[in-house]
Amino acid sequence: MRKIAFFVLLNISFSFAGDVSLLSKARNYFDVLPEVFPSDNNTLTPEKIKLGKMLFYEKRISIDGTTSCAKCHPITLYGTDGLEKSRGNFSKENPRNAPTIFNAAGQISQHWRGDRKDVEDQAKRSVLGKGSFGAPSYQWVEEKLRSIKGYVSLFKEAFPEDKNPVNIDNFAKAIGAWERTLSTPSRFDEFLKGHVDALTEKEKRGLDKFISIGCASCHNGALLGGNSYQKFGIYEPYWKYTKSKSIDKGRYNVTKKKEDMYVFKVPQLRNVALTPPYFHDGSVKDLKKAIWIMGKVQLGKDLSKQDVEDIYSFLKSLNGRLSEDITTLPTLPIE
Ligand code: HEC
Ligand code: HEC
Repeated sequence: MRKIAFFVLLNISFSFAGDVSLLSKARNYFDVLPEVFPSDNNTLTPEKIKLGKMLFYEKRISIDGTTSCAKCHPITLYGTDGLEKSRGNFSKENPRNAPTIFNAAGQISQHWRGDRKDVEDQAKRSVLGKGSFGAPSYQWVEEKLRSIKGYVSLFKEAFPEDKNPVNIDNFAKAIGAWERTLSTPSRFDEFLKGHVDALTEKEKRGLDKFISIGCASCHNGALLGGNSYQKFGIYEPYWKYTKSKSIDKGRYNVTKKKEDMYVFKVPQLRNVALTPPYFHDGSVKDLKKAIWIMGKVQLGKDLSKQDVEDIYSFLKSLNGRLSEDITTLPTLPIE
């Protein structure tokens, strides 16, 4: 009787020691997700956030009258559209896949190639995007907004110091402010805070492998990515495995520097299991396949089925909770 109790105790303390060392390893790579993603150039106020959320759903500023940010980043699909490549005004195809807007504000830059400085810069330039809103000019967007009386007072409330508050920069600031609140904490954050039981044994095994195999050398920080640029296809060309229909040269086309050939921003992995398809061109639908490809082309490793399974279950622990502020729809001004 006593012997059994002793063994049980020994076992518990062994697994406890394992948990503690995994926790301290994990803390070397990852951080708890912040509640909001603040900015020095855009203070977050309830008025701005409220307006930004409305503008996110606004279609009247698009050339076809049917395109809003939410068309390509619907909340129900965790801020992505489920398409390989997004479709904007008059169903025009975009060159790349739409990443999620959740937690996006916490990255070093925006877009796959990092060619947008921050969420404000992204929102502003998006309205002129030929494949997105297709608006002919910023002035055109400003006039559309000014013609809706409800917005004139909402912009005034959100930017009380501005003489002429309905302008494109304030449009961008309001949307950016809302995006800066889209934080989706998950069980992994509970784990990082020290609640080692927040993850299952399988998820812990996956976390351990994610670190030891080398994924965490690129996918780290609070978002497990979004904080560096890396070549896609270090060991072999990516298209050999993704079967991409066209070959995107990545940041090279932005900077024209040889060392940026096939370089992309390392995507964040928060909610990744809920945001297929994968990679900059949406070429891979299955997350397990995407994990295996990463092992192959980024690390030169042929991951076993068990490794892929374990990492997959760890990645699912990054599925976040959506606050009511995120899920409820705003009512837009009619006129
Ligand atoms: C036609 C579909 C479409 C519309 C409309 C659209 N987006 Fe996107 N969004 C995309 C695509 C595609 C990308 C990736 C572009 C790239 O990397 O080249 C993207 C990228 C982003 C990113 C960068 C995420 C990251 O991880 O880098 C943010 C943030 C974002 N969009 C927010 C918005 C906001 C805010 C609006 C409205 C002002 C908007 N989008 C309108 C399709 C769209
Ligand atoms: C050397 C850096 C590096 C390493 C190591 C690395 N990745 Fe990546 N990862 C990237 C880059 C860059 C991309 C973007 C590829 C593209 O352009 O689509 C990416 C994309 C992904 C994606 C697709 C995300 C999405 O939203 O489309 C997943 C999933 C992923 N990595 C998981 C892993 C896993 C699991 C490992 C370990 C087996 C790993 N990565 C190792 C750099 C890396």
